[in-house]
Amino acid sequence: MSRKNAAEEHARMAAEVAAHDLAYHQNDTPKISDADYDALKRRLLELEHQYPTLAKGSPSQKVGAAASGKFAKVKHAVPMLSLDNAFSDEDVTSFISQMKNFLGLAGDVELPVTAEPKIDGLSMSLRYEKRKLVQAATRGDGEEGENVTANILTLKNLPHELPSSAPELIEVRGEVYMSNADFAALNEKLIAAGEKPLANPRNGAAGSLRQQDVSVTALRPLKFFAYAWGEAPILPADTQWGVVQAFKAWGLPVNPLMVLCRTGAELLEQYRKLETMRASLGYDIDGVVYKLNDLALQQRLGFRTRSPRWAIAHKFSAVQSITVLEAIDIQVGRTGALTPVARLKPVTVGGVVVSNATLHNEDEITRKDVRIGDTVIVQRAGDVIPQIVGVSKRGSNTVPYEFPKICPACGSHAEREDRGGGKADAVRRCTGGLICPAQRVERLKHFSSRNAFDIEGLGDKIVEEFYTDGLIAAPQDIFTLQQRDARASKKLAQREGWGESSVANLFAAIEARREIALDRFIFALGIRHIGETTARLLARHYGTAGHLCQQMQAAGASAENDARLELEAIDGVGGIVAEAIIEFFEEPHNLEIYNGLLNEITPKALAAVAKSSPVVGQTVVFTGALELMTREEAKAMAERLGAKVAGSVSKKTDLLVAGPGAGSKLKDAEKHDVKVIDEAGWFALVGRGT
Ligand code: IVH
Repeated sequence: MSRKNAAEEHARMAAEVAAHDLAYHQNDTPKISDADYDALKRRLLELEHQYPTLAKGSPSQKVGAAASGKFAKVKHAVPMLSLDNAFSDEDVTSFISQMKNFLGLAGDVELPVTAEPKIDGLSMSLRYEKRKLVQAATRGDGEEGENVTANILTLKNLPHELPSSAPELIEVRGEVYMSNADFAALNEKLIAAGEKPLANPRNGAAGSLRQQDVSVTALRPLKFFAYAWGEAPILPADTQWGVVQAFKAWGLPVNPLMVLCRTGAELLEQYRKLETMRASLGYDIDGVVYKLNDLALQQRLGFRTRSPRWAIAHKFSAVQSITVLEAIDIQVGRTGALTPVARLKPVTVGGVVVSNATLHNEDEITRKDVRIGDTVIVQRAGDVIPQIVGVSKRGSNTVPYEFPKICPACGSHAEREDRGGGKADAVRRCTGGLICPAQRVERLKHFSSRNAFDIEGLGDKIVEEFYTDGLIAAPQDIFTLQQRDARASKKLAQREGWGESSVANLFAAIEARREIALDRFIFALGIRHIGETTARLLARHYGTAGHLCQQMQAAGASAENDARLELEAIDGVGGIVAEAIIEFFEEPHNLEIYNGLLNEITPKALAAVAKSSPVVGQTVVFTGALELMTREEAKAMAERLGAKVAGSVSKKTDLLVAGPGAGSKLKDAEKHDVKVIDEAGWFALVGRGT
């Protein structure tokens, strides 16, 4: 076809596609079937493929060009958090009573809560500035996601512009998903084209969205439900329900099955209703999300590390299948824990092929008397690792499973610690410490993992390969990899599956982490009992990596000293945690790693939660009865304002907030000359609206 003819045909088809787009997402009345629309689009793309200049301004692109190379990173103005899970009716009841306790409300007070389907897709943040959709970002690690604006603009049920009733700036958050029918049709097409089918609609949605070539996304039928928001200086309502209704009025798609409930019993009723409707909805849902309706109360409740206190996801119960247990392998974790893993004859459980499942620990195997050769019940619930529920049929000639007493990775003894009173710990652990290769490699994987250093391109598989090949033995080796590669005779780029650009990407990802937040650094060390929340507490309290190390060594110097008392006084650090961290800094191998890392990287002190507040950096203790807020609320508020909250008064305390009935802490404050105020004084100091 000549260029002239192609251009004419392209102009005709482009106008047609644009008209269908308009009919579809403005008037919600598509005039042709999805298949016919796809065919039109495909023809448009064929012409553009032949004459690339035709793509300019074409409706196939919507925003012009396809995303280049890699997706750019977007820092979320407000973090995208996840939700805590409830698995039983009791969990839901305690979700409500915990909110009431936190807010200091009586048990019989009514707390309206919304209930809506938990869509099984991928979460998305859409930024509307001056009512125009200017940016779309994936959740990523919650702090930073990927810029997928060009891809999102191809979605047909999403307005690119909000009406004048919407505010100047709002980040609308929700879920991108693919319907079951669209997923099945896509898989059929993929199979027909000789390509690998996708595992489930969620993978279908994620894979379709994260396409470098926007025109591929444009051909995939993705949809969106709005259910939350990020940065939003002005909200259209003061309830969860009201905001979502405003979204609807602005033309954003919202789920029609959201309801407002007044009691826990009503929430559970809605849960059961949605559970029965689940199979016929036409899209996957994996539970029901409950959110406290009153936004002012939501704000008072605030957040834990990764989830709000005012919402919860009530997951649907698990799906089960039956298969043969072919073997039990023992995996050694980064803290030496020996975990039994069931190797199964592959079986489909709720649409996903499962060939491994967890058996938890030694006692679980004994309790269920699970034997190799048995037919077992496998269960999957949401994202959790599949589990073995129990034996369905005993295999012939089976013998009871004997748990190894020797670490399969290094041959050291594996023991169960005494938990006191002659009770053994549930977990058997390898005693080999860092001589155990499994522990070393698992620590490396943890170090590079998403919530720790988050080094892109250095996932579990690559860490294992690099470790086996002697390229990295300890975390600091990651940062000398490039330098050593420059001198090596066999370069990384010559490894199977690698090339110049993947190596360059890996080195760039490593370089990007030479500066890292102190809490991530602490978490990445993989110290037993130190999760993200505790790591953050330690980072806030000690400020720098050097000070932390110095204080922990001082704390370990004797059974009781100021440094140890200070550590144990941090609200949220118990005796077990304190012991674990002191022990870590007593071990020369660990110090070698710690200092080796500090030669390569610079951990950054955490910015105070509030950059300026009257109590930033101060150590505050609350005591006595508080009347205007609960103790938990007081603590969360102080931390939000950048203060450290301690459980006891010492000479390091800056402020004691004492309510009626305060006792020994008040005396301690007098002894150490600590300033004392009452609750009203606290609010006078920090202000009411905090
Ligand atoms: S609310 C701060 N509502 O579930 C809370 N999340 O497990 C914001 N999800 O990351 C989330 N349906 O991707 C909310 N109706 C719904 C949801 C929903 C699905 C996803 C979301 C989130 C994940 C948490």
